Amino acid sequence: MITNRTFTMIKPDAVKNGHTGAILEKITAAGFRIVAMKKTQLSRLDAEAFYSVHNERPFFGELVSFMSSGPIVAAILEKENAVDDFRTLIGATNPADAAEGTIRKLYATSIGENAVHGSDSNENAAIEGAFHFAGRELF
Ligand code: RTP
Ligand code: MG
Repeated sequence: MITNRTFTMIKPDAVKNGHTGAILEKITAAGFRIVAMKKTQLSRLDAEAFYSVHNERPFFGELVSFMSSGPIVAAILEKENAVDDFRTLIGATNPADAAEGTIRKLYATSIGENAVHGSDSNENAAIEGAFHFAGRELF
C-alpha cells in the first residue's frame, strides 16, 4: 500500500468564494505533488456515502446538504508523511481553533463550512481517493 498519499476536497464554500487558486498554491508550496485532480459535484447520495462514518452524528444532514450544494475540487496529493502533514496544513476542524496560517484559519467560515477536507488515516486516504478517481487518472 502506498502510504505517502492523502486525499483532499476543496469544499463548496471555498470554491464558491473563489479560493481554489490560493488553496492549491498553499498546498503545492507546502511540498505536496498533485497526483490527480478534478472539479466535480457530489450528489446527496455521494456525500452520504463519502461521510457515512458520520451518519449517526447530529450534523450529518447539514454536512450532506453542504457537501452536495455546489462544485468541489477533489485531489490526491503525495508527500512524505502526507496524511499528518496535510492535517497540519489545513488546521483544526473549527476555524476558530485553527492555527495561524492554516488553510482553515485563512479560508473557512465556520465549523461546518470549513473550506477543505483532509483524510485522517492512510487507510481512509486510499478509500477516499478510490471513491473519486480511477487508476488511469493518477499520474
Ligand atoms: P474533514 O473530514 O472534512 O476533513 O473534517 P475533519 O476531519 O476535520 O472533521 P470531522 O470530524 O471528520 O467532520 C467532518 C465534517 O463535518 C462537518 N462538521 N460539522 N456542525 C458541527 O458541529 C460539525 N462538526 C463537523 C465539518 O464540515 C467537518 O469538516
Ligand atoms: Mg474527517
